[in-house]
Amino acid sequence: MEVRVQQGDITSIAADAAIVNLFEGVTAPGGGTGAADRALGGAISRLIELGDLKGKTGEIVTLYTEGRATPPRMVVAGLGKSEEFDYDAIRNLSANLVRALRKPGIKTVTTLAHGAGIGGLNPRLCARAIAEGAILGSYRFTRFKKNNDQNNNGGEIEALVIVEHDESKVAELEEGVAQGVALAEATNLTRDLANTPSNHMTPTILAEQARQVAEAGGLEFEVLEEADAEQKGMGSFLSVARGSAEPAKMIRMSYRPRDEEGYDLALVGKGITFDTGGISIKPAANMDAMKADMTGAASVIGAMKAIAALKPNVNVLAIGALTENMPSGTATKPGDVVTAMDGTSIEILNTDAEGRLVLADAICWARELVAKRIVDVATLTGAVTTALGDVCYAILTNNDEFAARLESAAQVAGEKTWRLPMYKDYDELVKSDVADIKNIGTANRGAGTIVGAKFIERFVRDTPWIHLDIAGVDNMSSEKGWISKGVSGMSVRPMVHLAFLMAR
Ligand code: BES
Ligand code: ZN
Ligand code: ZN
Repeated sequence: MEVRVQQGDITSIAADAAIVNLFEGVTAPGGGTGAADRALGGAISRLIELGDLKGKTGEIVTLYTEGRATPPRMVVAGLGKSEEFDYDAIRNLSANLVRALRKPGIKTVTTLAHGAGIGGLNPRLCARAIAEGAILGSYRFTRFKKNNDQNNNGGEIEALVIVEHDESKVAELEEGVAQGVALAEATNLTRDLANTPSNHMTPTILAEQARQVAEAGGLEFEVLEEADAEQKGMGSFLSVARGSAEPAKMIRMSYRPRDEEGYDLALVGKGITFDTGGISIKPAANMDAMKADMTGAASVIGAMKAIAALKPNVNVLAIGALTENMPSGTATKPGDVVTAMDGTSIEILNTDAEGRLVLADAICWARELVAKRIVDVATLTGAVTTALGDVCYAILTNNDEFAARLESAAQVAGEKTWRLPMYKDYDELVKSDVADIKNIGTANRGAGTIVGAKFIERFVRDTPWIHLDIAGVDNMSSEKGWISKGVSGMSVRPMVHLAFLMAR
């Protein structure tokens, strides 16, 4: 879908449908909606009078203009209560509208810049939210469907045009659209990568996809093959790859606008292209969901795509640790001891706790490359679903000030997060009898998500660090506002906003 801005009057610009809006409780519509009402001989006011239009959130009423306005359909969207209206509401409204208007005859849609008129919100941010909502909301994973059209109710909006009467707002709106498009398209890339089944998204294919993103965005790109990882001493990462016939890859993407050593920010993603659990094999039910166990890596690739497009003045490193986790005659076995790149010995008591094992070496590499701050993102634990469900994801950190920045970045993106504690008391849960550390917690002592973070914390040492456990929000069972069914893409836009918050 293309999103653009046009100066003019929404009643007279050609489109298959035009979207105007109404705040709850308004009886005499003004602005663009007022203009539409006048063109339609007071039809919108009449609907309000009749009680058929209230302006409530989620309300969508279509009028047929019968030649009284250029677009044949005039859609009135409820904005809800003006005091509750914000950018999140705009994003979700925009998503719901593009889904509601998915009809065979609707290809071009014009819309008012919800919020930027009577709403009094920042025009750039309104336009950004509209573009994000439209592109995120219309996402569907249809790659393996023979007839995509049927799946889309016979149609897909090709162009969304934000119509602004006030010439002086056009440039700001255009800037917002460009940002929203970059952020949403990057998120949809993450969704595509993570929704793709494992036979079509091996570590080799995922690395190749990352290479293409890097090349298109002018980023440096490097792959460590297994032999390179071996040479670097990445015994923890390679222990997960041992059972797989697919070669593992550790990938790096670098965005370096600043001529100085190292990186202000490193984004490190768990990239298990399929997690069977290994020798500690998972039960059969729902194991297919583990094709998305590379969402962390897909998220950092998506974030780098947007960063390359939007160009914050900050050096950003992305690392993806890509491998399958399979059982086989060569697989790592419970009780095995391996050594990570920094010399830490690890007792692997459960081969299904593999995410932390691949992240350990990825983080060691980030530190070797002089990362000053690290964010890791991973579908790390089932326990986080028990704690938080699919509403928000967990943030764990060794640095409150850094985490606060990520929290505000998430809020800007309309994503919900929740902090879990990192009390020193939890450290003993990863103590091993035979090695420096073990990869699961102590039996019956709980705190699975915190244990995962405590393990990872050993490898970041003093580097300010945030761990995002996105396992609970990874796979959504239904669509809701900008959130699509399947992989949600949460964490991608916040990581991009975080890069901007760190820019100098
Ligand atoms: N990939 C899983 C976590 C997961 C579970 C993600 C459900 C998405 C949905 C991870 O590798 C795993 O298996 N974790 C184990 C850890 C345990 C063995 C300590 C878990 O959560 O059960
Ligand atoms: Zn696992
Ligand atoms: Zn996993």
